[in-house]
Amino acid sequence: MRDARRASRNGLPQSADLFVGRDDELSAVSGMLARPQTRLVTLTGPPGIGKTRLAVACAAAYAERSGCAAVVFVDLAQVRDPALVMAELSQAVGVELRGGRDLIGQLAAAVGNEERLVVLDNCEHLLAAAPDVGQVLAACPRLRVLATSRERLRLSAEQEFPVPPLAMPASADVADLGGLAANPSVALLLDRARRTSPGFDLTPANAPLLASACVRLEGLPLAIELAAARLKVLTPGELVSRLGSRMEVLAGSTRDVPARQRALRSAIAWSYDLLDPRERALFRRLSVFAGGWTLADAASVCGVPADEVLAVVESLLEKSLIRRLPGDEETAEFSMLESLREFAAEQLASRAEAEEARARHAAHYAALAAQFEAAIGLLEERAWVLRAGRHHADLRAALDHCLGGGQVARALSLAAALGWYHYTRGDLGHGQALVDAVLPLATGKDQPAGHGDDATAGGLDGVLIVGGILAWATGTQAGPRTCCSRRSSAARNVTMCAARRSRAPFSGTLPGPAASGMPLLTGISGRRRASARGATRRAWPGRGTTLACSPGIAVTWITPPVCSGRACGTSVNSTIRGRWHGRHGGLAPR
Ligand SMILES: Nc1ncnc2c1ncn2[C@@H]1O[C@H](COP(=O)(O)OP(=O)(O)OP(=O)(O)O)[C@@H](O)[C@H]1O
Ligand SMILES: [Mg+2]
Repeated sequence: MRDARRASRNGLPQSADLFVGRDDELSAVSGMLARPQTRLVTLTGPPGIGKTRLAVACAAAYAERSGCAAVVFVDLAQVRDPALVMAELSQAVGVELRGGRDLIGQLAAAVGNEERLVVLDNCEHLLAAAPDVGQVLAACPRLRVLATSRERLRLSAEQEFPVPPLAMPASADVADLGGLAANPSVALLLDRARRTSPGFDLTPANAPLLASACVRLEGLPLAIELAAARLKVLTPGELVSRLGSRMEVLAGSTRDVPARQRALRSAIAWSYDLLDPRERALFRRLSVFAGGWTLADAASVCGVPADEVLAVVESLLEKSLIRRLPGDEETAEFSMLESLREFAAEQLASRAEAEEARARHAAHYAALAAQFEAAIGLLEERAWVLRAGRHHADLRAALDHCLGGGQVARALSLAAALGWYHYTRGDLGHGQALVDAVLPLATGKDQPAGHGDDATAGGLDGVLIVGGILAWATGTQAGPRTCCSRRSSAARNVTMCAARRSRAPFSGTLPGPAASGMPLLTGISGRRRASARGATRRAWPGRGTTLACSPGIAVTWITPPVCSGRACGTSVNSTIRGRWHGRHGGLAPR
């Protein structure tokens, strides 16, 4: 839900689905949040119990009651690195970070004494970032955090609220159909069944069966949703008998798993077993996506013919195994709940197709990264930056896969795109960290290497360009590999000496006319003069020119109009302009 399009006006994700029950839980959590001394409430519970839905409902109630409009929702499900949590939080709160250092200090300075409620959703895999959350709470006295996690964050300020299952019907309730329909588990089952079978209703004949299904599913909302989707093809009697046998089989084989998780696993496994082979294959392979995907993404990554993918996706959607993300009006996007993704990933891991699916995923996102990088500096750049934001988790996952598998050209291309992405977000530290992680791949022991083919050489140029821009923006000076300087000749000399001494790839950023570039580039290149003659030139309309040569040298000349304050209409330009005035105020704008 990181994309603003998917958030409602109060900053919370909206769901078109009916929300059932939870009156007691809402008032208990609201009571906790109303106490001035409560700073952090964590909703805990197993997958699919309803932590996220409850957190959103509690946050909406809090906003309405307290008049606090500053409610922020941070979806951490796709974030894999605990070091990125503060950047995600800052981004959601609307803080423009200046460099990668002291994020907590920058966040605290921006939020100050303002009243805010931050929902941190899906924290369980990022518990290493919990101390950072504690520090933010200490630094921002009127900020509150409502977290969801499968386990506690273990902070002293924390109050845990274990989310219980939905209320289940008692056997006596079956006599009163009106009362039974109002029971939260039954209401959820009926509502979700009507999604695919609009006429579905409670009758004296099916009431005991549906009540029994809710009890067998232990009031677990996700399990109930999955079962309800089956009522399109099964009668309530068939549902209950199949559910019963499935539960028994699995309950015996997984004694070490808590009962409630067993019910969910069973429900997922049961839904999975009922799929046809094409649906199963797509469901498994979709688990390689870290974030949302489109029909075209699914066809390309999962190896499904384009004319088949719509029907299979539609079928998985009807069975509640995937969901459509709300809010995208141009291209439909889909995703999977985390607990379903985990199950699908387990199924995929046990098959030979796993490696192929990951390789396709990496190739798909490397191609997307190349398109994104090529759009930097052009009119379509803004749209691509938004797109890269939506696919950030997948770009990152693809990069990790390529780094692990030594796929140099793809890793470089992905790193260049991610470097630009972080740059446009002002998240310079992470951009630099990425560049630093990837460059050694392209570097031999003694000299720049990895130029075996055009794709690798082009990828390296791309990383060097963004590396130089990042180094310039953060003011990193005279490192052996990336170097930026102002236009004084002394600084150029330092740059050139550093580059000559170092046999590592080099990138730099200098203000001034690009016409002077080639001699300087060959000067830097030194012994590699011959290669420098084959330098490639890339123009950045309205902002500069980059010259790159194959031994791994790239220098970007930022042209004066970039800092003239002229409205260029692109995010990179405005970021460059802002940083230019902040850091290089001495350069007279034209
Ligand atoms: N009170 C409710 N009313 C209606 N639907 C609900 C309710 N609680 C949960 N659901 C639905 O059940 C499914 C699982 O809920 P949710 O995603 O909130 O679980 P979770 O505990 O956050 O799971 P995870 O640990 O995987 O993040 C979702 O589709 C959600 O919309
Ligand atoms: Mg959740």
